[in-house]
Amino acid sequence: MKIRTCNNLNKSICFNYKGLGITYCTLTNATNGLGWTKIPQEVFDGNKIDWNKYFEKRAEAIESIKNGTECNECKNCQQIVEDEFEDDGKIHYILLSPWQICQSNCIYCLGHAEPIQKDAPNYEEYYKEYEEPYDMLGIIKDMVQNDILAKDAEIDFAGGEPTYYPYFNDIVDYLIDNDYTNIIIHTNNIYYCNAIEKGIKANAVSLMISIDAGSKKCHEKVKGVKSFDSVWKNFHRYSKARGNNYNKRLCTKYVIVPDVNDTEQELNEFIHQSIKHGATQIAINVYNQLLNEMNYDEQLMKHLVKITDSAIETAKKHNMPYTLFPNIEYVYTKLGLKLPY
Ligand SMILES: C[S@@+](CC[C@H](N)C(=O)[O-])C[C@H]1O[C@@H](n2cnc3c(N)ncnc32)[C@H](O)[C@@H]1O
Ligand code: SF4
Ligand code: SF4
Repeated sequence: MKIRTCNNLNKSICFNYKGLGITYCTLTNATNGLGWTKIPQEVFDGNKIDWNKYFEKRAEAIESIKNGTECNECKNCQQIVEDEFEDDGKIHYILLSPWQICQSNCIYCLGHAEPIQKDAPNYEEYYKEYEEPYDMLGIIKDMVQNDILAKDAEIDFAGGEPTYYPYFNDIVDYLIDNDYTNIIIHTNNIYYCNAIEKGIKANAVSLMISIDAGSKKCHEKVKGVKSFDSVWKNFHRYSKARGNNYNKRLCTKYVIVPDVNDTEQELNEFIHQSIKHGATQIAINVYNQLLNEMNYDEQLMKHLVKITDSAIETAKKHNMPYTLFPNIEYVYTKLGLKLPY
């Protein structure tokens, strides 16, 4: 029987950095900018999650959505739907964002903090602010040992830069060793990680790499650091590690930033580089804050569609699978155009 429910609440857990803690919800309620708040102290005392209480509180929250008495965070949320509901006492999606530090400085990214030197006077304080204060690997092990994490669970690393996170390799290794085969890693690809290579060999890891340029010069302009050559070199090594059975994604991603990397030539060169180094998919998006600031200027939107169409043409010519992310899809919709799939 269908009920009024939220599948995100029913399936997910999110590990955030310090101030946000651990939450059920991994999304933002678009109508009020809120999301589900921290799980309470009676569920998580800072060391261990009491899983019985965790599922009890989750069931209460789902019940409140069902009968229309949900909390303010969930009011009018786009994720509330009429759907079949089953609480199988498992978690099916983990979002890991325990860390905001990143060694890149992308022009479009509002969600990162720059690393500082170890000998800086405020080093300890600074890092406390931007990293998680709990033992995430310990919690994941506890989840696996208590059979809470569904075998088909999607485990999604974001950040900051996840490969820069001190326990990144340990967590990925542990998940692979325990037969989790749906691990997705968003990375700038500056660091080469043995755990990622192992995950690709085991057909367990997908990569979503934010590259955002086709040429070295433009890459440096977007990313704020010199890393073009190492990013592609690392990507090439990963794609070579694939076995014949590999059916996950090695996806290169391009966020279009108007006046910075918004030329057909740059996008086409990005596609050629992606083909050369073994990508299995390319993804295109657009820096949405700027579109908001420019009040969805029609000329700009037409330009975005023109260069995206041209990139798609190139991708099709070379049989390179492509996908568009919601911000750029929205531009097509706003202009009354059909999505180019
Ligand atoms: C916050 S990053 C974290 C992971 C990793 N550092 C990376 O760059 O992939 C996650 C993804 O969000 C994208 N992103 C960040 N800020 C964005 C923005 N303002 N508009 C569109 N995408 C953005 C990045 O390109 C990246 O693919
Ligand atoms: S209804 Fe919205 S805010 Fe509430 S848990 Fe679901 S996705 Fe999060
Ligand atoms: S690499 Fe990722 S986290 Fe770092 S600045 Fe760029 S988008 Fe943000």
